[in-house]
Amino acid sequence: MTSHSIEPSPPVRTERHGAVLVIVTDSPPVNALSAAVRDGLEAAIKEGAVDESIAAMVLRCDGRTFFAGADISEFGKPLRGIPLPTLVDAIEASPKPVVAAIHGTALGGGCEVALGCHYRVAVPSAKLGMPEVKLGLLPGAGGTQRLPRVVGVAKALEMIVLGNPVSARAAADAGLVDRLVGEDTLEADAIAFARDVAGTRPIPRVRDRAIAPDPTAPEAFRKTHGRKLRGFDAPEACIACVVAAGEKPFEDGLAFEREQFTALMNGAQSAAQRHIFFAERQAAKIDGIDPATPLRAIRSVGVIGAGTMGGGIAMNFLSAGIPVTIVEMQQDALDRGIGVVRRNYEASAAKGRIAADAPDKAMALLTPSLSLDALGDCDLIIEAVYEDMAIKKELFGKLDAVARPGAILASNTSYLNIDEIAAVTQRPGDVLGMHFFSPANVMKLLEVVRGARTAPDVLATVMALAKKIRKVAVVAGVCDGFIGNRMLMPRQVEANKLLLEGATPEQIDRVHVAFGMPMGPFQMADLAGVDIGWHRDPGRIENIRDALAAEGRWGQKKGAGFYDYDDKRNPAPSPRVAEIIDAFRAKAGTTPRVIDDEEIVARTLYTMVNEGALILEEGMAQRASDIDVVWIYGYGWPVYRGGPMFWAKTEGVEKVVAGLERYGFPVAKSLRNGEAVK
Ligand code: 3HC
Repeated sequence: MTSHSIEPSPPVRTERHGAVLVIVTDSPPVNALSAAVRDGLEAAIKEGAVDESIAAMVLRCDGRTFFAGADISEFGKPLRGIPLPTLVDAIEASPKPVVAAIHGTALGGGCEVALGCHYRVAVPSAKLGMPEVKLGLLPGAGGTQRLPRVVGVAKALEMIVLGNPVSARAAADAGLVDRLVGEDTLEADAIAFARDVAGTRPIPRVRDRAIAPDPTAPEAFRKTHGRKLRGFDAPEACIACVVAAGEKPFEDGLAFEREQFTALMNGAQSAAQRHIFFAERQAAKIDGIDPATPLRAIRSVGVIGAGTMGGGIAMNFLSAGIPVTIVEMQQDALDRGIGVVRRNYEASAAKGRIAADAPDKAMALLTPSLSLDALGDCDLIIEAVYEDMAIKKELFGKLDAVARPGAILASNTSYLNIDEIAAVTQRPGDVLGMHFFSPANVMKLLEVVRGARTAPDVLATVMALAKKIRKVAVVAGVCDGFIGNRMLMPRQVEANKLLLEGATPEQIDRVHVAFGMPMGPFQMADLAGVDIGWHRDPGRIENIRDALAAEGRWGQKKGAGFYDYDDKRNPAPSPRVAEIIDAFRAKAGTTPRVIDDEEIVARTLYTMVNEGALILEEGMAQRASDIDVVWIYGYGWPVYRGGPMFWAKTEGVEKVVAGLERYGFPVAKSLRNGEAVK
């Protein structure tokens, strides 16, 4: 027998339509500009240039999208094939006009290729953008120099530094798209357009355009957006490049862009952000379940509890066009919950974040009810009631009787045992956890808790559904606090101990904010409520938190917690809290000592990494990168540090282990041997 190796078909082909050469790229899934694609495009452009029967070219892609950018998986590896900037220059230098025919998403390098073309046509549903900044980079194939020449400095700053794509229509308004064409007739319309412009001379090249000076734009931009860019390196580099576009000759601007791009590419931040790009997509994959597992249809959802959490959960589905029945016990609580949902939608519409008719559309899908019986037809029922095992068990018993066979029953618990809840039903295979993060309509993270008996298709269905409602979902096992809240515990314990030993809430919070967290542990306690989880017995004071709660220092909502707040909720260190802490120190016989920042990092952040390693050893998370995703999307861990496990690798395993040992923590085996962070 002879074995044949099947040659993969080349990703770029050419087709002749009279005098127009159509260059087609077919490189699933997203036509990333890999070495093979770049080389194919270069050859095709040359073919069109030398062929005398060709007067113009069209560049288009098969599949779901125009080029979605450079091939990120090639980053950090030795360069193969023609470099992307050289390819873009070669397209622009073509002696015959090249028309980009855009559908799907022309992103990053894809948008830069389009800017190298002499004309751009797009279907109305297309999107164009430069999201490199989200990977800790900047557009490195001439995008920072060409885009401002087309859309102006202010618009280019917005697109490049924030990285959000714009619709084809908005791109047409900004001059980035020359013509919007038929949704289903892209190729034919692009060919017709190419015929029209075939004879135009000189061929319009973006590099030759003048750039309108706009000296105040960068400062205005920083003023508006500076806060959310805190800690990131790439945005300032993006701004510098756009500024250079206005000040330097084109070629010098390109050289400056290259220099800045290379520096970012070799830096730790981009490595972290690229890690998260792939980690987020990896998280959707479930170990031990065939990706082809047939999914259950989720046509309608039931939510129990119309409080902040239940209402927020419901909004996710309503926004995705999935009808929701929401159940409360009392009419006034139900009315209040529905009112909050409506007001949230209306506020978003008023800010222009959603269409003006979106609130009505969403509310039309929402059915309020006072009876669990209303959930009989739902395909998925999520309970978002009080965190109490007895209450949850009773509820699941009732749901088991009401829900139709095959319906999935989910608990939004943030730490309770899903197996215990599932055991009260006759269908433990249909039960799992769906742990949303507050506010549930905003936060991207969803921990999907896989019970011991959760059926594979139930887990797969919920993971796929998560993507539909635009959540980033991570599979967690059954353990106290699952992945995220479990790792919060050692941090909290150590933060409290540090207070007793001599640190202040301000110092600990400052270290966390300087690290890049949106807030520190005590600021978080004040925001969430110091009274959360409190036993409510003012006479029983076992720790500092009890003492604060007993005095009514419940946090921001009371104007006092670990900090004192003014009317505008600005925090100030609290003398009263200092007294309370002193009293606890005296009682424990502790003499306060000076605690340095490094100790705070080791005891509150390395301990989280250590807990993460234990979570992996116990199989409660599928992979280290899932833990990173949880902390980025659920707790605001700075994405430029790549999540706790990735960060530990950047810090150096030896340093982390040594830090833990210095303060007497038992080090997890998988951390010590590096397995947990490899
Ligand atoms: N390079 C390599 N792989 C990519 C990729 C890219 N640019 N974009 C997507 N992929 C892969 C994903 O990893 C995923 O792989 P998997 O199936 O093995 O997990 C697969 O393509 C499908 O991606 P999604 O699951 O994200 O598919 P969606 O349909 O949800 O989204 C998308 C499609 C909007 C194109 C989204 O993938 C995306 O935003 N991609 C990244 C776009 C981007 O950042 N481009 C800029 C790249 S950097 C650059 O161009 C530098 C240049 O300036 C020099």
